[in-house]
Amino acid sequence: MSTSPSRVAVFGAGYVGLVTGACFAELGHSVVVRDVIPERIAALQRSEVPIYEPGLEELIARNGERLHFTGDVGEAIDGADFVYIAVGTPPTYSGDADLSAVWTVIDELPAIDRRCVVVMKSTVPVGTGLKVRHRLDERGLNLVGYASNPEFTAEGTAVKDFLHPDRIVVGAFKDEDGDAVARLHAGIEAPVVRSDVASAEMIKLAANAALMTRISFINEIANVCEATGADVVRVAEGIGLDRRIGPSFLRAGIGFGGSCFPKDSLALKQLAANSGYHFQLLNAVIEVNELQKRRVIGKLHSHLGSLRNKRVALLGLAFKPHTDDMREAPSLVLAGRLLAEGADVIAWDPVVDGHDLHGVEIADAPEAAALGADAVVIVTEWPQLADVDWAAVGGTMRTRVLIDGRNMLDPAPLRAAGFTVEGIGRAADPGIA
Ligand code: UDX
Ligand code: UDX
Repeated sequence: MSTSPSRVAVFGAGYVGLVTGACFAELGHSVVVRDVIPERIAALQRSEVPIYEPGLEELIARNGERLHFTGDVGEAIDGADFVYIAVGTPPTYSGDADLSAVWTVIDELPAIDRRCVVVMKSTVPVGTGLKVRHRLDERGLNLVGYASNPEFTAEGTAVKDFLHPDRIVVGAFKDEDGDAVARLHAGIEAPVVRSDVASAEMIKLAANAALMTRISFINEIANVCEATGADVVRVAEGIGLDRRIGPSFLRAGIGFGGSCFPKDSLALKQLAANSGYHFQLLNAVIEVNELQKRRVIGKLHSHLGSLRNKRVALLGLAFKPHTDDMREAPSLVLAGRLLAEGADVIAWDPVVDGHDLHGVEIADAPEAAALGADAVVIVTEWPQLADVDWAAVGGTMRTRVLIDGRNMLDPAPLRAAGFTVEGIGRAADPGIA
């Protein structure tokens, strides 16, 4: 595999585009990241990273010579061997992915009279690559190749996931384009899966669907555990050690959120439906997740009765730890339900600035959020919550009810400190059984 540096243009300076650009620069390539938001580009040019992603700021700083930011399409494309598309593809009202940002990028491309490859990093419905190919041809961009190179990076560990992936997937219409994209990853140790474009697109959607299915599966097992007296944490450990099952993605909780799972499940469901297929299992996975987000409300009712004028502290707002991303965060559903039931909601998160959450009071520490509360709910398993002196916090609460939505804390010392504790799918508090 040749390791000669290439020129890479990346369209989209969001979570995926910035990580992609910074990691290609780290591999020795020369990268220009382009975005339509002028303030975002200006900030990046001042070395200010607009998102919270561990390791990204250091990577960008370290590769400053090879990594540039611009709002100008011509400057990004100038001399580029690869044009990565990493713009957002949010869901529309119909559940289909909104590809308007992708089409904008394709239509913005200037005439290119040399070989280069447009590479789709954004998650798109199966069949999108073929449509883009036709559009490139219509625009006379016949020299421009096309490949699908989906991302499997999880927020919070995206830099590590990019540089040390389980696999690299490359789907192309022409072998030479696939070869070029595979070569661009030289320096990364991982199997490269080569396929046609449609299969690469489906690999991304199917991988996410498989992970979501595991989460909804373990959440349903958790709910049955609750009804029968078993402990899902032990159950997950017990089944995860079976090599055919494996231990990952078996953490029961208050449901999945984020920028990918919720939108990609809808997009796959809709993709199947548009082709006349009713994807029953995926529909169930989505429904289980919706119900799971609301289970905490039922638990609060069982301990506090009516929630009107009850003070409930939500600890953690981001959809998972180590990110500031609030897209489809379960905290939004929880806060909304609690406010609708007349509760006073106070929240804490170490990185999310929740001041735009209408009606929610924001505290600057977990202890401050819990002060005078009727219940605390662990919404996001931020490691800081393991270091809280819960016995002291309990002394400041109106009633010591703790709902651990992520099963992160050991309930025994909490119970010893006088708390009524409920996790998800764990044996009920002996004191209240
Ligand atoms: C990505 C993907 O592209 C999506 O398909 C995948 O499933 C999840 O991650 P992400 O990086 O999380 O999206 O999105 P976001 O952080 O919203 O960044 C998208 C960026 O593209 C924004 O900075 C936006 O300004 C930019 N953009 C949008 C363009 O540069 N051009 C456009 O035409 C539209
Ligand atoms: C996911 C995929 O992991 C990644 O490969 C893809 O490229 C983008 O989507 P991300 O959404 O960043 O990444 O986070 P992930 O760690 O997968 O978690 C997604 C959600 O599932 C979170 O809300 C998390 O709390 C939840 N989750 C995860 C569980 O509830 N239980 C688990 O066992 C694992």
